[in-house]
Amino acid sequence: MTSTGVRPPGPAGRWLVGNTIDYDRDRMGFLRRCHDEYGDVFSFDEHTIVVRDPDLVHDLFARTNDDFSSESSAVATGFDARRSADDAQVWMSARRSGWRGLNRAAATAHTTRLGALFERTLAEAGDRPVDVLELMKSYSGRAAADFCLGADADGVPEVVAENAAAIEPLSGSSQLFPEWFPSRKIKRFRLARKATLDAITERIHRRRSAPAPDEPRDLLDVLLAARDPELTELQVQRLLRGILLAAYGVPAASMTWLVRTLATRPDLWERVAAESAAWDGEDQPPLSALPQAEAVVKEVLRLWPPTWLMGRTAIRPTSLGRWALEPGDQVMFSPYLLHRDPRWWPDADVLDPDRWLANRTPRKHSYLPFGAGPRVCVGTQLGVVQLTLGAFWLTRGYRVSAPGADRSAPEFHNLLVPKGFRAAFSRA
Ligand code: HEM
Repeated sequence: MTSTGVRPPGPAGRWLVGNTIDYDRDRMGFLRRCHDEYGDVFSFDEHTIVVRDPDLVHDLFARTNDDFSSESSAVATGFDARRSADDAQVWMSARRSGWRGLNRAAATAHTTRLGALFERTLAEAGDRPVDVLELMKSYSGRAAADFCLGADADGVPEVVAENAAAIEPLSGSSQLFPEWFPSRKIKRFRLARKATLDAITERIHRRRSAPAPDEPRDLLDVLLAARDPELTELQVQRLLRGILLAAYGVPAASMTWLVRTLATRPDLWERVAAESAAWDGEDQPPLSALPQAEAVVKEVLRLWPPTWLMGRTAIRPTSLGRWALEPGDQVMFSPYLLHRDPRWWPDADVLDPDRWLANRTPRKHSYLPFGAGPRVCVGTQLGVVQLTLGAFWLTRGYRVSAPGADRSAPEFHNLLVPKGFRAAFSRA
């Protein structure tokens, strides 16, 4: 035990390696056991605490950018509070401009193009069994590029896919290496990051050399038109790369859980399919016409939040609850555990969409699949729209066959995904 009165208690770990080996052997099992033994807050090591209390988690999120940093990197950069704060400022001013300027017309035009992107992706899969996560990455990569770059999106999903694939082995490891470290994985990461930035820069230049449109058509138009403050090219590049990557793997993991849920629960498929068939409008339905689908989506995000582990780094001497933290200390939190805590969720492990239809409000701060506070997911609404329409298109136009889907166990790696889940999609 490492209790000093100001640090929470926690497992002592093994000589030299601490808790890393036990954690890597069974990540979720380890966190669960430690919470059971030590309570809602425990020390993972001398500089890392793990929290499960909804109010503490919310406090942590709300104080991000002021007391905590959410910047993360696939390579070791060493902790530097000033650089973290500068990075956050650059990001936040671009983030604010983007969302302030995004007009309804551009957002709606994007969502109406989603149906065609979904169909095209599924058509490429044919009707043979495919790796659903890979298929959904292909869809969400196209959706993200369309949202950011509209008519200039061609070719971008491929470079983003390579960038994400190059990050995966680095950030999935418990140990980070510096950017100069001579390793093939790091070289691949550097090249892939450069390719993404080059692709974005090329599109920025292309847009700048054309007449500005009267109304922004996509996020790039919004960012280039921003005044007060005007954004630098570096800010536009960073924000677009951040969004393209954030909107790639995470929504794809959620879509994969959604497909698996609908494929393994015929009762839910029937309910959602009946609702989808009842829509007789020409355009795609608004969410208000799809309450059953949306309730299933919310349950899928509750039980299988793809970002199953999130972290913040203290940027100044501070505290969380009664626990003192030094600059560089980390606070980790798992939405997966919060969402399955029987204190806040009756029958927590049961997938029951009715809990969202019965107008019962969940306990405050006990549902955080998109995070909260100033760094809450910028794609929260878009993510829910993508998933709910995904359930609509699937149940209206396809049959899904996924024998053995129940055997695809949850994998707690970078993202929470159903390991090896395969399915075949055929037109209904
Ligand atoms: C089901 C879909 C999605 C889920 C579950 C999800 C979840 C999350 C979570 C948990 C975070 C971290 C929040 C934090 O650290 O406090 C995040 C951040 C982010 N997400 Fe999403 N997301 C989804 C879809 C999207 C989409 C479609 C976009 C693109 C428009 C997007 C863009 C981002 C960005 C840019 C960030 C970083 C925000 C920042 O640090 O300021 N996400 N997302």
